[in-house]
Amino acid sequence: MWGLSVISRFLVINGPNLNMLGLREPEIYGHDSLGDIQARCEAHAETVGAKLDFRQSNSEAEIIDWIHAARDTADGIIINPAAFTHTSVAILDALALTELPVVEIHISNIFRRESFRQHSYISMGATGIISGFGAHGYVLAIDAMMGLTGEKKET
Ligand code: DQA
Repeated sequence: MWGLSVISRFLVINGPNLNMLGLREPEIYGHDSLGDIQARCEAHAETVGAKLDFRQSNSEAEIIDWIHAARDTADGIIINPAAFTHTSVAILDALALTELPVVEIHISNIFRRESFRQHSYISMGATGIISGFGAHGYVLAIDAMMGLTGEKKET
């Protein structure tokens, strides 16, 4: 319809230790801080017509509470579950109950790393996965989510 623009709202969740990006193993995770990544994501989101609620927590319980609340407030969830990727059935269950599109993102390529990182509990609850493109993966995740939520709105 003329003049009607729909802003998509995406919750971006970052799990444990990602608040230390920039300092944390830069040879694996790069030199950008999480603040740098947030700024880049917010700038990109604006150009594609999305608004982000960008968060980080070291607490599994807090992340689960955020996912529950997103049911009523977000059009999709972008999540880097960090180490909870490899341990958390509880986060998988929370994602499943929201019935929202989910993009799982990892800065590193988890399939090229230690065997314990090569299994993700979260993937079963994700629409798709982006892994190994560094911090740029967050921008790719926003574009992927725009595609997913656009398709949903058209139906
Ligand atoms: C990570 C990969 C995980 O294995 C690790 O525990 C992280 C970050 C990534 O973004 O590459 O904390 O999710």
